[in-house]
Amino acid sequence: MKFQECHSCECRNLIKNKILFKQIPAFAGMTASCLEMSKYLFSVILLLVLISCGNQAKKIEPKQTRLTGEESLKYIAKGDFIVKGSSRVLGKHIKEKMSEGGILEAIKYCNLVAYPLLDSLSKKLNVSIQRITQKARNLKNKANSSQIKILEEFEDISSGGMISPPIVTKSNDKTNFYSPINIKPFCLNCHGGIKTNIGEDKYKFIKKLYPKDEAVNYADGDLRGMWVIQFDD
Ligand code: HEC
Repeated sequence: MKFQECHSCECRNLIKNKILFKQIPAFAGMTASCLEMSKYLFSVILLLVLISCGNQAKKIEPKQTRLTGEESLKYIAKGDFIVKGSSRVLGKHIKEKMSEGGILEAIKYCNLVAYPLLDSLSKKLNVSIQRITQKARNLKNKANSSQIKILEEFEDISSGGMISPPIVTKSNDKTNFYSPINIKPFCLNCHGGIKTNIGEDKYKFIKKLYPKDEAVNYADGDLRGMWVIQFDD
């Protein structure tokens, strides 16, 4: 039986309700059988959407195993070297911009250059270099669930007044190097308290560039985030 020729009780009920459906513009002009068909299609689409959303929520991240001892030493040396170089380049430029044009110039510099700079260093060195945090300014730097676990370990040590040594993990064919980033007095200019460390006008400027900014209210010594260097094996 074709859909359009259906005259079962259920369809007759739908025909009775047709007038009601006609009042909804998107449904106007549909016959009862069309409506039944579209209800069916709608349920299928809804089911597919729910399944795909569910999959996203449960996205499985590759399992990470911890490397220790000899195995990790090679990556700690390489990772430390890359972190020192990258933070020296970033810090040097921020300080230069600050003395040339004040905080606003330095903020503009961070906004335009920090992320692309790490990106181009990554390409040059054939690794991935990132600064990851739970309270992000640039949303591209926000931690995923496995990174949050590492940050929590660093936080435990940092809240006891110490700085954790780096952590090295392996997942599939990648090796990840993590090392903590702690706040220094100089960082408070842009990551400290609003009004107390960052002038209100400066913060307005930051908010304009990063409407969802969370990277404020830190104090000297706080854990700000971590460096994540990923090596292809
Ligand atoms: C002149 C202002 C300024 C100063 C000083 C500054 N930062 Fe930032 N920081 C920024 C801006 C702007 C970004 C966002 C950069 C981007 O778009 O990638 C940022 C991003 C970061 C990030 C990446 C995570 C995120 O939230 O996006 C870390 C980590 C970070 N800063 C740590 C520090 C530390 C540690 C210091 C001190 C050594 C410091 N910053 C000093 C302005 C500043």
